[in-house]
Amino acid sequence: MAVGRSNGSRCYSTALLQRVALLILLTNSLLDTCNWLFHPEPALGSQGDLQARFRPLQGFRVTGVAAAPVSAPNVFSCTGSCCPPKQSPKLWSPQLQSGPVRTRLSFQTAFSDPAYVSKYKLAYQKLRELQASNASDPRGWLQQANVHCAYCSNTYGMDIHRTWLFFPWHRWYLYFHERILGQLIGDPTFTLPFWNWDSAAGRAIPAAFLDKSSPIYNANRNNLNSLMSQITSSCSIPQMQSAMLDAQTTSLFLGKPPGTGSAGGSVELGVHGAVHVATGLQSSPYIDMGSLSSAGKDALFYAHHLNIDRLWWLWPQLPPAANGNPRANPTSADWLNSQFAFYDENAQLTM
Ligand code: C2O
Repeated sequence: MAVGRSNGSRCYSTALLQRVALLILLTNSLLDTCNWLFHPEPALGSQGDLQARFRPLQGFRVTGVAAAPVSAPNVFSCTGSCCPPKQSPKLWSPQLQSGPVRTRLSFQTAFSDPAYVSKYKLAYQKLRELQASNASDPRGWLQQANVHCAYCSNTYGMDIHRTWLFFPWHRWYLYFHERILGQLIGDPTFTLPFWNWDSAAGRAIPAAFLDKSSPIYNANRNNLNSLMSQITSSCSIPQMQSAMLDAQTTSLFLGKPPGTGSAGGSVELGVHGAVHVATGLQSSPYIDMGSLSSAGKDALFYAHHLNIDRLWWLWPQLPPAANGNPRANPTSADWLNSQFAFYDENAQLTM
């Protein structure tokens, strides 16, 4: 699957990063949503049901009935156990890069190339070494997981999950994570693979993830048989049809604004959560992928989200919805002007 990654992110992000000074008041009253995200969901298609079960985010100042664009968090006011390093952000605008479009490969393609496997493992090895040599470097293994944790709990006073920020926030997160890995191995062309669990051919977990001596091994994973059988049933063709084809409106697919009545989209609530839960389970003796606050400690997490990103990229290309609605991203300024802050490949906080 050729995805003009940087391109895809850039054309999206140019609008996204427009600076908007609308004020959003954030309080500490957000619910800890890290764990209940993955409580079993009713069958997709019953969005009313999902919405009734969704406890709206508290604390956003809501203008009218919709949200205003969220502003980047003030990292200095971060509280909680997973605050990434605090530093002043630098304004950043995406720049077009020269050179060929980089392609992200599926697991089955990427991991059939020994040279790629070595490079991928080396990149995560470096991420772990950085963690060990300088625990406060925001690019290190745990700090990268913290960035995700911070946006899913009270830590930053906002949660990008179960909202229409889910796809764009994770696209940015992966963009920087990938650049960090590329920087650590001195290869700016490095790309992450996607775990295409929606295909029988791509579902298998490559051996490199299962080798205990590998930097991409994780002990907090479900046993392989159970993991694979759960994923096979929860990412079956009917499940994919629910997540992708049956989501015939922008808000069914992408989710709704943070604020009153917010809710996640069909992919997030369906296959996305199912793969998290199947991989880590939601309680001891496993958990990393099973809770958003710890998911970033498993390299599979990033590959999982690369597939989520791919599904977002695919959705507008599907045949038009039966009801005539275009399958299109929101055009609202509230969505386009949302702001986030991330650490770049030089450990600089950017927004
Ligand atoms: Cu930020 Cu799969 O979650």
